[in-house]
Amino acid sequence: MKRKARFLRLVMLSAIIAGGLSLSSCESYSWAKPEIPQDLTVSFSESLMPFCQGCHGSWSTERTYDKLFANVDTVTPASSRVISIHSSITAFGSQMLQIDTLLLSVPDAIKLWASQGAENN
Ligand code: HEC
Repeated sequence: MKRKARFLRLVMLSAIIAGGLSLSSCESYSWAKPEIPQDLTVSFSESLMPFCQGCHGSWSTERTYDKLFANVDTVTPASSRVISIHSSITAFGSQMLQIDTLLLSVPDAIKLWASQGAENN
């Protein structure tokens, strides 16, 4: 009986070690971009404007909208100039915005907003 208990303990221990090893190997994990729900709307006033004004604090809401609108491409959102203007500013491209229940990178949020017509919403 004692032997069996020791054997069981050994099995448990190796299971724990094996589990720990498989958890610590990152190779089996891959990060996929979150699926964007069809009805997700990016709001200029709620999401983008506060972000822009974090750096362009002197711009009024209207001016911020005009600047943004003038620098997005609603047909090919990925080539929006506002993204390339800021390409060397890490705090621009790396920031995540909470849009509804999703976290999107700023460039992704801007592209989505542009694809939705770049409205003053
Ligand atoms: C992390 C700081 C930061 C954030 C956030 C930011 N910008 Fe900028 N932006 C800059 C800097 C720095 C420049 C370069 C200033 C220059 O040399 O003219 C710039 C330049 C610009 C320019 C070109 C110059 C001009 O006045 O026309 C536009 C347009 C612009 N930003 C729009 C925006 C918009 C719209 C947003 C929000 C989506 C935004 N920016 C968010 C830092 C930021």
